[in-house]
Amino acid sequence: MINYADIVADLSWGDTGKGKITSALVKEGEYDFVCRWAGGNNAGHTVFVDGKKYKTHLIPSGVFHGVTSVIGPGCVVHENSLAAELRYLEENGFDVSKVKVSPRAHIVNRLHIDEDKEKLAAKLGTTSKGIAPCYADKMARKGTLAKDVLPYWMMWDEKLHGNVLCEGAQGFYLDVDQGNYPYVTSSTTLPYGACSLGFPPQKIRNIYGTCKAYDTRSGVDPMFPEELLEDPELLQIANEGQEYGVTTGRRRKVNWLNLDLLIKAANISGATNIIVNKVDILMKTGAYKLFHEGGLKSFQDLGSFEKYVRHSLSATDNHIGEIIFSKHPEII
Ligand code: IMP
Ligand code: MG
Repeated sequence: MINYADIVADLSWGDTGKGKITSALVKEGEYDFVCRWAGGNNAGHTVFVDGKKYKTHLIPSGVFHGVTSVIGPGCVVHENSLAAELRYLEENGFDVSKVKVSPRAHIVNRLHIDEDKEKLAAKLGTTSKGIAPCYADKMARKGTLAKDVLPYWMMWDEKLHGNVLCEGAQGFYLDVDQGNYPYVTSSTTLPYGACSLGFPPQKIRNIYGTCKAYDTRSGVDPMFPEELLEDPELLQIANEGQEYGVTTGRRRKVNWLNLDLLIKAANISGATNIIVNKVDILMKTGAYKLFHEGGLKSFQDLGSFEKYVRHSLSATDNHIGEIIFSKHPEII
């Protein structure tokens, strides 16, 4: 029997530290499973374990702590990338025997990647990992399932029990329904998508929504125009925050936090807790600004910035229990 499911989901455009939060929650030892419910190796998770930095793309962060790590039926899997990631983790001393793949996850093939590179990458700024073409085949019901190609020992028996942690990929505004279509990814990034792993919404306990103290966007999106790359204050944030894609190496566009969009994402996601990451980067640059109610607001210091964000988020529709301003890349 499933006891409860907690979910970590991004409230922005990805790259807000879900891996860090997931890893920190798993480390406390209460979870029996850590599961991914959407996306593929378009994601990039940076996790620190005992002070050392690791980067993964597809395998859930439970693998760093010996917890069964499930790649769910809503995910897409590129076999060679998965094999390379397993090797990388094994070489670094992690036990990968508990990494399981849903027999119903879909397989990304060579043609998917070619089509993504040729037709979508330039126009939409995709990660060129074949994600959209693979999901297109899935929806057209002509895809290849993991059970038909992957080794038997990796197959998940599709059973969950005890305490489950679900690790989101991408972010709220990259969701195929809620994002700025077609500048989105091809899956459901919202927390409710986690139920596709095989549990009812009533089992959801905590939803940890993540964002940063400023917004970033990797890939093409008219909401993040090229001019942002010329703003000296935003450039400074980009440099201090090392805002380069984990998967693509591309420079991310940076903008001041859009609080209106954050509130909307928190409301629709049903976030019970919010973690604002990378506050330490703003502290380094010393400029505290955000967009709210149609205007750009500046703050004298971090204290007044945090107070304003906290107050505004507390006034959202759903009750947010805890709002954390994180100032360290390795710990919450
Ligand atoms: P795709 O998922 O590769 O099709 O890319 C679609 C859009 O989502 C592009 O703008 C990507 O840059 C963006 N995207 C996909 N995965 C991530 C991620 O993990 N972090 C940030 N952006 C992402
Ligand atoms: Mg990422």
